This record gives sequence, C-alpha cells and structure tokens, in this order.
Amino acid sequence: MRALSRVVVSLTLLTSTAWGLGNNFPTRAKVEPCEEVRIAQEEQFSAEPETTIFTVSAELAEKCLQSVPIKKKDALRLVDSISSFWKWQSSLDYLTDPPKGYLLPAVDLIGGLKEIRRNVAKGKYKGEAEFQRALYHLATDAHDGHLDLPLDAISTFFYKRVEIGGLVSVSADGKSLPEIYVQYDLKAAASAELDWTPSAVDRINGKDAVQWLREYSYNDKSHDPDALYNNMFYSIPARTKGFLGGFAHQHAIYTGKTTTIEFKNDTKVTFENIATFTESFEGVNDGKSFYAKFCNATLTTEPNSSAKKRNVVQAAPITQSRAVKDPRALYPDAVYFLSNGDVAGYFLDGEFSDTAVLSVLAFISTYQDGISEAFSELVVRFLAACRKNGKKKLIIDVATNPGGKVFVGFDLFKQLFPNAEIKNRFNFRAHEQYEVLGDKINDLLTDDKLTIADIEQADGLFDPDVYTRADGKKFSSWKEWYGPDTVHGYKFTRPARWDLENPGLTKGGNLMVSGYQDRLDVASQPFDAENIVLLTDGACASTCTILASLLKQQGVRSVVMGGRPRDSPMQAIGGVEGSMVLTLEDLYTIIKPVFDKYITGNELRRLEDTDLGELYRSAPYLMGRTSIDGAANVNYQNALHPDDDTLTPTQFVYEPADCRLFYTQEMMFDISAVWTAAANVAWGGGECVSGSASGAF
Ligand SMILES: *[C@@H]1O[C@H](CO)[C@@H](O)[C@H](O)[C@H]1NC(C)=O
Ligand SMILES: *[C@@H]1O[C@H](CO)[C@@H](O)[C@H](O)[C@H]1NC(C)=O
Ligand SMILES: *[C@@H]1O[C@H](CO)[C@@H](O)[C@H](O)[C@H]1NC(C)=O
Repeated sequence: MRALSRVVVSLTLLTSTAWGLGNNFPTRAKVEPCEEVRIAQEEQFSAEPETTIFTVSAELAEKCLQSVPIKKKDALRLVDSISSFWKWQSSLDYLTDPPKGYLLPAVDLIGGLKEIRRNVAKGKYKGEAEFQRALYHLATDAHDGHLDLPLDAISTFFYKRVEIGGLVSVSADGKSLPEIYVQYDLKAAASAELDWTPSAVDRINGKDAVQWLREYSYNDKSHDPDALYNNMFYSIPARTKGFLGGFAHQHAIYTGKTTTIEFKNDTKVTFENIATFTESFEGVNDGKSFYAKFCNATLTTEPNSSAKKRNVVQAAPITQSRAVKDPRALYPDAVYFLSNGDVAGYFLDGEFSDTAVLSVLAFISTYQDGISEAFSELVVRFLAACRKNGKKKLIIDVATNPGGKVFVGFDLFKQLFPNAEIKNRFNFRAHEQYEVLGDKINDLLTDDKLTIADIEQADGLFDPDVYTRADGKKFSSWKEWYGPDTVHGYKFTRPARWDLENPGLTKGGNLMVSGYQDRLDVASQPFDAENIVLLTDGACASTCTILASLLKQQGVRSVVMGGRPRDSPMQAIGGVEGSMVLTLEDLYTIIKPVFDKYITGNELRRLEDTDLGELYRSAPYLMGRTSIDGAANVNYQNALHPDDDTLTPTQFVYEPADCRLFYTQEMMFDISAVWTAAANVAWGGGECVSGSASGAF
C-alpha cells in the first residue's frame, strides 16, 4: 500500500512547463516546498516512467516536512494509543532503571509519552515533523529492534549520502586501531593501476569523525555502543542486503543540507545530502495537503480477524526481499545456498582447508511457503557435505543477522548439537491488558459451548499450552502461567519455554524443529564444540541472539569484528535480545472480536476506562498513522538465561565476545579474508585485539 506501491502520477497538471523553457518570470518564488517536491516527482516521472524511487535535495524534503502543520487533537489521540500499546513492551520497566551491565542510558517510555503529550497540549511543537521526531527518538532510546514506530509523516523521506557512499573502519593489520575511509576510495585504490593511497577521514561536519559517528550511531536500535558504531559502516553482508551503512543511509534523520568531510591529507570536500521517496505526491500543494494525504489515518486494509491464522513464533521483522538472481554476488561460490540468499555453506581452502563456513544472513527474510523447511534441508545437506569432505571445524557467520523465525534458529542448533536440550527461557511483562484478555480468552478456550473459531487463539499468545514451565513440565492452567512473579520489583509471568512437542505450534507455518515430533531422525553431531566459532559484528539480533545463547551454553566460542577504535572487549550480541515481536495489527486482531462479541454490560463499562479499552478504541487510528498499515511493533517476550537466578532479561546482561578483531581493507572486498582471520585466531594461534581475548583464546 502506501509505502511501497508503484506511484502513478497524473501528468495533466505540469506546472513545470511554465518554468522549463528559460522563462524569467519568478514563477517558482511562491512555490511551497511540498509542491516543489511534487513537481520534481512529476518531472522525474515523465522523464523516466519506470521510476519508482524519486529524489530531491535533503534540504527541500526537510523544508516540506517542516511546513506540515500539527493537529493537536490528532496528536493527542496518537500519543494515547501508543501509550496503551507500549505497555506490552516486555522491557518497559527494566528500561527505566537498567541493571549494571547495560551500556546505554535509561529511558522511561511511558513518562516520555506523558511529556510529549504535555508538550502537544501546550502547543510546544512547531509542526508535525517535530512532534513525530520526538516520538521517534523516544522509541529509539529503548534500543530495541523489536520496538518500532514508523510514523507516517517522518517516514515519507529517506535521507541519504549517496555521493560519498559508505564509510569503512579498517585497521592496517586487524589488531591496530582502525581508521575511517570512504569505501569508494578504497575500491578505486584497489582497482587503480596508479599507485594511489587513500587518505583517512579526520573530521565530519567539523567534528572529530569517530565522535561524530558515535553520536550519530545512537539513532539506531542496537543496545551496544560498538554494534551501533559498526552499523554506521559498509560491509559485505550489509551491502548484500542493499545497505551501505548508517552513514550513507539514515532514515528519517536530517543532518543538514550538506556533509563536509575533512581527510587527513587536509583535503576538505562538501557533498549535498539527498532524500528519496516512493509515495505519490499527487494533490500535494503545501504542508496542509501533505497532512491530509499522508497523515490520513484511514486504513487502506481492514484488519481481518478471520484472515489466515497468525504465526505466533515470529521474532524480528521480515526485511524486504532481495533481488534473487545472485543473492550473494559479493560472496565466493557456495557449496550450497538458499535461493533467497539467507543461508549458504562454504569451504575454506589453503591453511584452513579443514574449515567450513555457514553464513546466515537471516533466519528467513522473505515469506514463501516451505522456505523454513528449505532452510533446514539446506543445513542438513551442507552438514552432510562437511562430514563427507572431512571438515573438522565450522565458522557460523551471523554478521548483520537481524533474526527471523525462532524455530529455524532452534533447528540449526539441534542439527549442530542433536543431544543438547533447548533450555532457553522467557517471560512476558505481566500487566493488566495481558491478564484481562488472557482470562477472557482462556475462559472461551475451555468453554465447549462457545464457538471460538473467530477468536482463533488456541495455540496462540494466550494459550498456556504452547509453553512449558522452565523445568519442561506443562503449566496446569492459564493462571499458573500468568503468575505473576515479582522480579527486580516488577511483575512478570512465570519463566517458560516453547513446547516444541505441541503439534499446534507447528500447524501455523512454523518449522518442526529437528529432534522433535516427526523429526526424530537427526544425523550425529557434526563438530566438537571447541571446533565451532560464532562470528558476529555485534548486530546479531532476535533469533540470532537465541542461537548465540544456545551455542554458548555448549561451549562454542565467539569472535566479534569491528567496533569503536579502542583496545577492549566487545559484546558479540548487540541487537535486540528480546525474543518475540508483537505487531499492533496482530494484537488488534485478537482484541477486536473479544470486545465485539464477548464483553458486554458492566464489564464493558469497566474496561472502557482501562488501557485495553483505549487500545480497542484507538488501535485502528494508530495503525492508520504508521507508514505501512499496522506496522507498529513491540517486543513482548524477554529472553532469560537458563541459569540466571536473577531472571534478568538478556537484553540487559553484559556478555563480551571471546575475541575481537578489527576489519582490514582486504575484508571490505573479500569476505573469505574475514573467515580466515576468524579461523586463524580460533585455531591458528592468531592474536585478538589487545585486552579482548577471554580465557578461551
Ligand atoms: C586526499 O584524500 C582524499 C581521500 O582519499 C582524496 O579524495 C583526495 O584527492 C586527496 N587529496 C590530495 C590533495 O591528494
Ligand atoms: C483519506 O484517505 C481516504 C482513503 O484513502 C480517502 O478516501 C480520503 O479522501 C482521504 N482524505 C483526505 C483528506 O485526503
Ligand atoms: C478475511 O479473510 C478471509 C480469509 O482470508 C477471507 O475469506 C475474507 O473475505 C476476509 N474478509 C474481509 C472482510 O476482508
């Protein structure tokens, strides 16, 4: 719908003809910035009718956004709906007062919303963009990749620095402190016949470059400062996903009309920043009509409660599909690869010819029937090839892995360690909305007289039958699962695990995990734990963190790449460690039929004044105010280590990798140089960055 659909621009009203022919009349002087955007789109469209991505200067885009008025009533309604929804965020309480070991600032999400609400009421925001950015920054301050609030106005433009392109942070030898370079420079130097040495970036917009990038990096959602820093840069895995790094591509953040770079050789260059957009600006003449068009909360797709049953085990948002012709163009030839590029297996040669690499860019990034099974099958085949070819060691490369399907991660683990138990636990925030809905739904689930087909919550979020207790036994009831327990002064459900023996869980399109139900026939353990290394760049999030935790429990070591230029350890896992995403649309799909059919009279009157009542009323509005209908998400499940008696969500636990390495120039063009370096520190006696090696290295 709005975000990605092909734009059809009316060509009947080309005001541009008035000034396209050397006309000296100042016809543009009065043109509103948003109208100028529309005209630019019309021109680009008529010049190239296949165009779906349009470009204007960042300055013009920002002027257009700044001209959009705020509507107080709408803004208040938006804040109230977010407030009810965010109560589902599992880390809400911990974020206000994070335990030692969490490296980022505390944030009070609900308090922050109250403040924004007060500011709206007092008329403090000059326009819609300033208001939405306040919400955006508040959400980002949670540094949780599952907490997403893509609001309509500020999602219209993507700010980019395409002319400079990506930056890289590379070290001369992988151990000495890295410096920053322009990736295009390194590429030109690598391919040039001339003997040219690129100069490092010294300052950005007048500020020390490392400092500038560090500050800027906090606009992203990782919860680790080194992972945030890495996210600024180009890398082969990032490029494979169409991302040149957060410096080149930063959504929604405007940093001025230009970017000035000063190199160490004293050359100073200024580049123009641009903005791209895909929405049709037809009918947009000014900020007011921009608001009417893009901040129009009318849903284009009605949430449909009888639509195909939702998949309960879905962590991490699904990214856009990649071009599939050669999904791994920058990688060497694989032994096997999945058609969408998510996973591929390689063999190293030379000194490490006994080493295999399993590169996992995502635990499913595109929806297709059977894709999870295909992933699992590819791993089966690749591990068989490893056995057949006498491979003794394995590197699991999860750089930039944002997660995906939890059971696909479980399955990979069980193929590597068929005899190990999946002991990872989780809990939910125990709050009024979950309790009231859970009580109601479980009454319905256990009442034979009611037809509950329209609720479709058997084997869903509220059904204790999809979980087991931490000891693997079933919960006796919803009440037993709900608890609540008091942890760290806050209320949570009982710690639980997924019940992988429950066939209901695998009905909804979830993979049946190797070693469970009908898949008891699993090949023997292919590698010893000390011969496996998990290779990350800190970005590992969601399902990736679940796998990392399971591997660590077996004694698998981790090597992490990059990070801030300093000699110190770095965490292997910097992405969100919460383990489940809840979309507003999915939640509303549950709430609506319960309210519409099963809550009446006094109960309805009582609930009207609660957060749940608010969400029932305002969820459609909030869904209509996101850039894609219903695209607001929270994380509803905290991951817990199996042996942590304090039950601290792993999101807040500091865990350094066993060894850290910096990238080298070569690694920017040859991914096998990264793998060889990891093999070399793991098994070849190579050294880690000073101060970063754990006892295991
Ligand atoms: C300084 O280095 C930059 C970046 O490598 C390069 O583009 C520029 O041409 C160099 N300037 C001089 C005077 O060599
Ligand atoms: C809001 O969207 C609906 C549905 O697309 C449309 O019918 C209506 O005209 C829009 N309102 C404005 C003010 O553009
Ligand atoms: C809801 O989804 C079901 C199943 O996909 C479909 O048959 C039905 O037409 C949909 N209803 C609406 C109102 O879109």
